[in-house]
Amino acid sequence: MCGIVGYVGSRNAVPILMEGLKRLEYRGYDSAGIGCVVRGKLKVVKKEGHLANLEAILPEGLSSTTGIGHTRWATHGGVNDANAHPQIGAGGKVAVVHNGIIDNYDALKKRLIAEDVAFTSDTDTEVIAQLAAKFLDAGDDPETAVRQTLELIHGTYGLVFLFADHPGLIIGARNGSPLVLGVGEGEMFIASDANAIVRHTPKVVYLDDGETVVVTADDFSTKDLRAAVVDKRVETIEWVAADTDKNGYQDYMLKEIFEQPESVARAFGEGGRLVPEFGTAKLGGLNLERRDFFDIRRVQIIAMGTAYHAAMIGAHLMETIARIPARAEIASELRCRNPIVEKETLYFAVSQSGETADTLMTLREIRSKGGRVMGVINVVGSTMARESDGGVYVHAGPEMAVASTKAFTSQVMSFVLIALLFARMRDLSLSDGKSLVADIGLLPDLMRRVLAQAEEVRRIARKYSSAASFLYLGRGPSYPIAMEGALKLKEIAYVFSEGMSAGDVKHGPIALVNEEMPVVMVAVKGDNLEKTIGGMEEIRARKGRVIAVTNVDDPRITRIAEDVIQVPETREALSPLLTVIPLQLLAYYIAVELKRNVDRPRNLAKSVTVE
Ligand code: AGP
Ligand code: GLU
Repeated sequence: MCGIVGYVGSRNAVPILMEGLKRLEYRGYDSAGIGCVVRGKLKVVKKEGHLANLEAILPEGLSSTTGIGHTRWATHGGVNDANAHPQIGAGGKVAVVHNGIIDNYDALKKRLIAEDVAFTSDTDTEVIAQLAAKFLDAGDDPETAVRQTLELIHGTYGLVFLFADHPGLIIGARNGSPLVLGVGEGEMFIASDANAIVRHTPKVVYLDDGETVVVTADDFSTKDLRAAVVDKRVETIEWVAADTDKNGYQDYMLKEIFEQPESVARAFGEGGRLVPEFGTAKLGGLNLERRDFFDIRRVQIIAMGTAYHAAMIGAHLMETIARIPARAEIASELRCRNPIVEKETLYFAVSQSGETADTLMTLREIRSKGGRVMGVINVVGSTMARESDGGVYVHAGPEMAVASTKAFTSQVMSFVLIALLFARMRDLSLSDGKSLVADIGLLPDLMRRVLAQAEEVRRIARKYSSAASFLYLGRGPSYPIAMEGALKLKEIAYVFSEGMSAGDVKHGPIALVNEEMPVVMVAVKGDNLEKTIGGMEEIRARKGRVIAVTNVDDPRITRIAEDVIQVPETREALSPLLTVIPLQLLAYYIAVELKRNVDRPRNLAKSVTVE
């Protein structure tokens, strides 16, 4: 899924759409286009590649008070100008932009072709434009034409329609792909992501699945599938536009890595979540009564990608701090198994965007079977945030780089708080709770000390940037950190890397190790240190080039490792919040060295809203 922006008002829509699309660039896309109404005719301009390509071909003086824009992440049909959106229906009366997938497009397309409709693209989206055009031709008004079209299509969509004969009108529809309406003074905005419109208005209305919205400059009306009017709440969002600027950093990713001391502090500070005098955390959003804690016997955490690595650490924290059996699972895999949902299990869904289809569909499956699901979510008002039974906003602020960094540390911090709360409701003593609260408070400064070593990490990145592949190893809470370090390197540097348990590596993968293989090993003070150092010896004995990330000053590590990145000491449970930073920086600087587009890696989209 990529980006949608729409505008209707009295200003020129074109620069507003272009600027909105730029705000959505971070999501990753392969082509872009805009459509508007000029003197009763649709004017559509679209181009494969970056927004700059579209900007270069925009006719000078193009102006209209109504328009729609799109960045496409191709699912059906190659990446080319014709397949870019908006897609136009025969006769040029209706244009549409679409996020998502139309599952039954093939059958619909065959039927339309049999009726002599000529298709101009290979997209699934075009059937929507062609159907709407057919209904308009048959005399339907725009709203009825859209409604009739929606009755025929099956799949996921965020849609915005534009009509040649109705300047001053756009119609949106949502099923499984987000749409948010921005309510201004005499003007309205619509977008797939509030980022695109937040600088114009803080007042928003989130559409729910099955809803349509008819939008004019001064008014909007939302209806459900049966065309009954739905009263929607106008919410005020708090993000300031400056949050989405680069603030002088070369890339969003670097900015977001450096923001982590503040974003993590927000995760535990926002709303006074730490309660030092009782050595516990207050998380009102969980909506749990004190007595509920007696009934929770197990915790299961679902997520994808980086959020899954945070979930693994979350499970570790729940077990070690709160002593509750806990498991993390890749959401899509749980769904593959037809999940067994238990009454005494508390479920958590972790997601930066709150829109990831694999996680969302699994959340729905668990809830439909009666399970109670808590969200650990960054984007306020996102679908998962609204569909869960309660949860914790991680307050990382807008994360623009495709590679997740600050959302990850804020997710981990949220689990530290959840584990602390559960632990104090069970058997963690007041003094142990207080000591953990004190250690949490120290973290932002410790994170700053790690960031102060960025130049050293950059030196190491340069040294190893030509390596063909990397291994990342860790144990206990450092195991998910190894996986996260490897994922970062894969996604932004396109260097093959594997993150795995330092215990498991000797059961096969160690065969890969030779004098060319950099092996990043995370070794922190605590129960797992000795075995991790033993593992380092084994790698070194096979001539692997060990890069150690450690918080201990141990001569064995300095002897074995070719390079050492020292991080400050904290308790093992909190160490992931520090050890992940050098790995984020390592991937970042290797990617820069290899001249990759760090913020918009190839083939990726910020949130994956298809299963
Ligand atoms: C992170 O760097 C990735 N781009 C990706 O793995 C991401 O974490 C995953 O798609 C889950 O996204 P979510 O947190 O928005 O659900
Ligand atoms: N399925 C549509 C296409 O391939 C929409 C893709 C998107 O969400 O960007 O054109």
